[in-house]
Amino acid sequence: MKVMFIGDIVGNTGRKALKQLLPSLKQKHNPHIIIANAENAAGGRGVTAAIVKEFADLGVHGFTMGNHTWDNKDIFEWIDDEKRMIRPANFPPGTPGQGHAVIKANGKELVIVNVQGRTFLPAIDCPFRKTDEILESLGKKPRAILVDFHAEATSEKIAMGWHLDGRASLVVGTHTHVQTNDDTILPGGTAYLTDVGMVGSKEGVLGMEREAVLRKFKTQLPVRFVVDEGKWQFHGLVVEIDETTGKAVKLEKIRVREDDWIME
Ligand SMILES: [Fe+2]
Ligand SMILES: [Fe+2]
Repeated sequence: MKVMFIGDIVGNTGRKALKQLLPSLKQKHNPHIIIANAENAAGGRGVTAAIVKEFADLGVHGFTMGNHTWDNKDIFEWIDDEKRMIRPANFPPGTPGQGHAVIKANGKELVIVNVQGRTFLPAIDCPFRKTDEILESLGKKPRAILVDFHAEATSEKIAMGWHLDGRASLVVGTHTHVQTNDDTILPGGTAYLTDVGMVGSKEGVLGMEREAVLRKFKTQLPVRFVVDEGKWQFHGLVVEIDETTGKAVKLEKIRVREDDWIME
């Protein structure tokens, strides 16, 4: 089976890019299941029910989140009922929503796990032990499993890749919004990429207006960041998984910039 994973979609610019590019990417790669990180989809902070619907209508089957999960307060109204939405599993017990889920589409089945790192991010339960717990609960039968590790430090993400090698089909990093160039299939058969990148403006800083970010760095005063409306870039990947073994057989990065993209 083929799975497409799309990096953090940032605000209006990211949503516009998804709408413009996803139809041709679907045609090119023919994925059975499409998953996207939606933690920044609503103005850079959180996600709304309307945006989930918008993405689902474009063909996205499941959503992962991160440290911005709760920024848009309306999520508390619907997260418990939205079975396509997966927030970090290592938030404290009793947190609304779910930390893992099975997404079914086009006759295929994919287990999604979302966990958040704790290096340079708020204190949270251990992502390594939490992922072990979830994987053990799934039983021994080989399955296609995607783990989105939402973390800041490259070291923590690489460590998670090794920790899960042979136990997950795909381990991807999100959160830093910059696509890394270390895509590989680890010896145990786990496809791995330290960070998938983002879908958002290529003219700002991590999707936000560069003037505000620069002001913050130079003055150290509180500054409100807003989503940059410049030209977009689209980062994602496609992985091919052997369902009989749960191992990855091929990993291909997606990196498209608005300037390079030719309308078909
Ligand atoms: Fe993000
Ligand atoms: Fe994040």
